[in-house]
Amino acid sequence: MTSGENWVVACTVDAIQPAEALRVDIGSRTFVVVRSPDGQFFAMDGHCSHEKVHLADGIVDGNIIECPKHFGTFDYRSGESRALPACIDLKSYQVKVEADSVYIRV
Ligand code: FES
Repeated sequence: MTSGENWVVACTVDAIQPAEALRVDIGSRTFVVVRSPDGQFFAMDGHCSHEKVHLADGIVDGNIIECPKHFGTFDYRSGESRALPACIDLKSYQVKVEADSVYIRV
């Protein structure tokens, strides 16, 4: 690990199937880890920016995750909000896979 990197284990690869999302709590922070339909992993802040709802309870569709409460959407690759009422982008995080673990750079 080099200076400034803080990779933490989020989950195992098998914990998330393609086109699914998982809530991951690390310390006091909550993330959502998404596995895209083609099997890649992504991570961003876990609460919707509209209200404090867990995005991991939402639906993954293509490159989008839809909030379960008011159906705002985010591009999980970048955290960019894509549909109202979720109009504030979320922070996204680098992800890497080593062996059978998914890591988030926090
Ligand atoms: S709480 Fe997510 S869109 Fe309203």
